[in-house]
Amino acid sequence: MESRLNVFAFLSLVVAAALLQGSSAQTTHIVGDEMGWLVPPGGEVAYSTWAAAQTFTVGDVLVFNFIASAHNVAEVSKEAFDSCNTTNTISISTTSPTNITLTSVGEKHFLCTFSQHCGLGQKLAINVTASTAPGPATPPPAPGTQVYTVGDSLGWLVPPGGPIAYETWASDKTFMVGDILVFNFTNAAHNVLQVTRAEFDSCNVSTTTTPPITTSPARITLASRGEHYYMCTFPQHCSIGQKLAINVTGNAVAAPAPAPSSPAPRPSSPATPSPSSATPPPSAGGPSTPATPSPLTPPPPSSAGGPSTPATPSPLTPPPPPSGSAASVAAAALPITFLAVALAFLCN
Ligand SMILES: *[C@@H]1O[C@H](CO)[C@@H](O)[C@H](O)[C@H]1NC(C)=O
Ligand SMILES: *[C@@H]1O[C@H](CO)[C@@H](O)[C@H](O)[C@H]1NC(C)=O
Ligand SMILES: *[C@@H]1O[C@H](CO)[C@@H](O)[C@H](O)[C@H]1NC(C)=O
Ligand SMILES: *[C@@H]1O[C@H](CO)[C@@H](O)[C@H](O)[C@H]1NC(C)=O
Ligand SMILES: *[C@@H]1O[C@H](CO)[C@@H](O)[C@H](O)[C@H]1NC(C)=O
Ligand SMILES: *[C@@H]1O[C@H](CO)[C@@H](O)[C@H](O)[C@H]1NC(C)=O
Repeated sequence: MESRLNVFAFLSLVVAAALLQGSSAQTTHIVGDEMGWLVPPGGEVAYSTWAAAQTFTVGDVLVFNFIASAHNVAEVSKEAFDSCNTTNTISISTTSPTNITLTSVGEKHFLCTFSQHCGLGQKLAINVTASTAPGPATPPPAPGTQVYTVGDSLGWLVPPGGPIAYETWASDKTFMVGDILVFNFTNAAHNVLQVTRAEFDSCNVSTTTTPPITTSPARITLASRGEHYYMCTFPQHCSIGQKLAINVTGNAVAAPAPAPSSPAPRPSSPATPSPSSATPPPSAGGPSTPATPSPLTPPPPSSAGGPSTPATPSPLTPPPPPSGSAASVAAAALPITFLAVALAFLCN
């Protein structure tokens, strides 16, 4: 508990410093501007033209506005993007707006998995460059977010006991949108790459061109709901167990509208598992495809949450979020609340 408070105080100072410097360099990009996210009348040139006029840096946010029943947003590999292959997605979101924080440099690829939409031009490729803002290279987390060091003191390595190590580590945690994973590893001996379910299962990333993160500690903000997969791309490391699958559920920022005088983080400690209190009731999972068992399913077979395919949105479709207005009001109040907390800390 004490360490959590220390971390919180430290993060408060980081935020306060950023605010006082006025160097909040985050840019929000409304994808397609007024057009939004749809099958563009003029074909895919619509989004490539839009993207060409923007500069994307780490920490920026993409906002996809769309009709939820008619479209979705999936991040995919370059290969899948080029061929409009929707079989394996890195992540998928079915709620509008979908806000995606750009957490690493390089090319990112998005498309709509609805039939024909990608082929007709509903696809977006962007190039994310490193943040040029002074000070901390990573955007400070919002209050209420949780920072998880993957494997805790074990860190990110080939676990002595095999894949069970990271399965166990993840099993008692509730990951929410906005939370941060920290992969702490030895540079040049390991790396970390977010991969698709198929790549996670096979440990084969030979067709992926996205570069892994090679510098420790790697901080990855969980930008969307659903299943997320990570692995080390060094030969054999994944197959021996250096792989992590997590299920991102709620939205950490929207959930606890913090009272001004009680800026305590989420009550559940990362060390004390209390998944039942933090996990939303399972949305009625329809019959899912009888494929290989999901790596996120606990070893004893349970009736709830069977294997699911990333390409079919239904099993992963989250319940609709609370009304957006409350969330945005809370979000607007957060920096002020945080600054107040930081100042209170300084005056102690
Ligand atoms: C789509 O990609 C998957 C692997 O990600 C592959 O198995 C499948 O054959 C591809 N489909 C097409 C139509 O290329
Ligand atoms: C991203 O930048 C690289 C290197 O500058 C370039 O080769 C690539 O075509 C760019 N990709 C996109 C989608 O603009
Ligand atoms: C990362 O791991 C190194 C040793 O492997 C350790 O000294 C360091 O304290 C760890 N950092 C964090 C943030 O856990
Ligand atoms: C990995 O996948 C690629 C393309 O899907 C295939 O050519 C290659 O043989 C696979 N490698 C292994 C070790 O399975
Ligand atoms: C991930 O979480 C969602 C929402 O709670 C749930 O519907 C889905 O079954 C979960 N997937 C797995 C593999 O546990
Ligand atoms: C997404 O971003 C838009 C524009 O910044 C904001 O109005 C909205 O509240 C955000 N939604 C969520 C769920 O964060």
